[in-house]
Amino acid sequence: MNVALLGATGRTGVLVLDELLMRGHAVRALVRSEGRITPGAAITTVVGDSRDRDTLSELVGGVEAVMSALGPRARDESLHRDTAKALVASMHDAGVRRFVGVSGMGIDVPGDQRSLSAKVAASLVKLVGGAVSRDKQLEYEVFSASDLDWTLARPPRLADGEETGRLEHDARRSTRSTKIRRADLATFLVDVAEQGLYLRQAPFVATARR
Ligand SMILES: NC(=O)c1ccc[n+]([C@@H]2O[C@H](COP(=O)([O-])OP(=O)(O)OC[C@H]3O[C@@H](n4cnc5c(N)ncnc54)[C@H](OP(=O)(O)O)[C@@H]3O)[C@@H](O)[C@H]2O)c1
Repeated sequence: MNVALLGATGRTGVLVLDELLMRGHAVRALVRSEGRITPGAAITTVVGDSRDRDTLSELVGGVEAVMSALGPRARDESLHRDTAKALVASMHDAGVRRFVGVSGMGIDVPGDQRSLSAKVAASLVKLVGGAVSRDKQLEYEVFSASDLDWTLARPPRLADGEETGRLEHDARRSTRSTKIRRADLATFLVDVAEQGLYLRQAPFVATARR
């Protein structure tokens, strides 16, 4: 596949990029400045901001799927919703339907079946996350109102470390585990994009306990 990737320089994004390249996909990566990623045979870069329509049009033109591991580096309380609005419009113009991105377990989706502990954890995420958490909820509203084939993964706390290969995920039921390795999340996201899983859904996903 030809894949456009947002957040490719981030801690999860770099792992998504590696996974895509390892599986033989061609990637067009969004970077905020030249030199952050070295272009190669299977990788090209587009320089710009994720909220900029012209940048996104250049990024998504001719790709089969758009993936994102975008996240606010500083206090940027509308990054996700502003990017989602610009991205939906750019993808629509370019005729690209598939989007796979990272949300968080704090967002609410109709039909959710959370355990009591997951309900408490989600309330805490909303309390501590404040405006950023609200921004992710609004991002979800933008994608769900679109006609795209979107998937927004809802991981709990992200952790670094080796890939475990132990994933639990479900469209409605909260996970038992309360964390996920970024490497496991990267594999999950690429699986979802490759296999067309969880269309127009926001699956909970975590690294399963032993
Ligand atoms: N931390 C957690 O426990 C947790 C839990 C659940 C979900 N999440 C979510 O998981 C996602 C990935 O997290 P992470 O820690 O891997 O992210 P990260 O390391 O903070 O990376 C964020 C990425 O977004 C890019 N970015 C930020 N603003 C941008 C803009 N205006 N234009 C273009 N690119 C921009 C950054 O580019 P630069 O390199 O140029 O800054 C970087 O590539 C985030 O959405 C986060 O909210 C996190």
